[in-house]
Amino acid sequence: MPTPRLEVSHIVKEFGGRRVVDDVSLLVMPGQVTCLLGPSGCGKSTTLRMIAGVESLDRGAIVVDGELVCDGRQQLPPEERNIGLMFQDFALFPHLTVAQNVAFGLKGRKVTDRVHDLLAKVGMTAHTNDYPHQLSGGEQQRVALARALAPKPRIMLMDEPFSGLDDRLRDDIRDETLAVLKDEGTAVLLVTHEPAEAMRMADEIALMRDGKIVQRGAPYNIYNAPVDIDAAAFFSDINVIQGEVRGALTETPFGQFLAPGVPDGTAVDIVIRPQHIKIDFDRGGRGPHPTPEDGTAARGVVKRARFMGSSSLVEFRMDYDGSILKAVVPSVFLPKPDMPLWLMIRRDRCFVFPRKAAAA
Ligand SMILES: Nc1ncnc2c1ncn2[C@@H]1O[C@H](COP(=O)(O)OP(=O)(O)O)[C@@H](O)[C@H]1O
Ligand SMILES: [Mg+2]
Repeated sequence: MPTPRLEVSHIVKEFGGRRVVDDVSLLVMPGQVTCLLGPSGCGKSTTLRMIAGVESLDRGAIVVDGELVCDGRQQLPPEERNIGLMFQDFALFPHLTVAQNVAFGLKGRKVTDRVHDLLAKVGMTAHTNDYPHQLSGGEQQRVALARALAPKPRIMLMDEPFSGLDDRLRDDIRDETLAVLKDEGTAVLLVTHEPAEAMRMADEIALMRDGKIVQRGAPYNIYNAPVDIDAAAFFSDINVIQGEVRGALTETPFGQFLAPGVPDGTAVDIVIRPQHIKIDFDRGGRGPHPTPEDGTAARGVVKRARFMGSSSLVEFRMDYDGSILKAVVPSVFLPKPDMPLWLMIRRDRCFVFPRKAAAA
């Protein structure tokens, strides 16, 4: 295995006796983008600040490129860590041109080449001699990226770097930024609270909650095999069907679900994302035949249907108990209220979790 660019082991940080970062471990491999993803306040920025060296740590160790940079006893100062930083409120030097901003802090004969190379990569060659106030937000962002990459950092830390940009610009800048980072071969630890951003950018996602990493994996895996109901709900709306286990099975209006290894009498939540509910027409009061993949269909009536462009969101009131289930369907389909339809839950798309005790 190649040497990881960044190896964070069991780091802990407390503020006033409260554990804000609780035994966090992370690995970022060369050329990889890892996203630290979690809700606001879960400890992402504090983790990043410890890696950058602007915050001390109470326990644990941080190793960059095989070199120990801090372990609670010794600390390499931030400027000696060769780590690139990019934050939301990045500030370019207003009195320096674009080229001077990127060259800032670089030494040696090759500076001009490096600056031109980077400005070309971020598509800012035409603005080489402009000042920051002459640039749009997106253009400033590109210059900030070039400046952060100029000293060839061993790893780049980015804290919500795109959250100051407006929506339409953001997708483009994300993709361009990713292309430049991949081209430079820079390892990246990106912090975000937006699942869509993490899925778009990351090779690996580390999902954080209350100071702990609760799950890590490729975006596809973390989306399709969440560890618990909260991990599932963090990525999209979810539907929950409640059941109870008898003989490793749960009986529901949608047929049986497997609950291997779950003891009898355990209450379980069957979780399905709205985009994975299957819908079929009513045939004179009857629905489709049960299949092993889709189980039994249950009937509901459309309560509300909203057109959302590429898809429609349909809310159903279920016949069996009056509960509401949501489905996202292609927008060519926009059913009218009160229309009866049959819903199915694909067995390979749902998650069965033992129900958590209600928070006291
Ligand atoms: N210097 C500090 N002193 C006291 N509490 C802090 C300090 N920095 C962060 N916190 C607290 O630690 C928690 C995690 O903060 P932060 O790492 O910024 O979360 P995130 O970046 O995930 O939103 C928050 O409750 C925040 O208020
Ligand atoms: Mg933060």
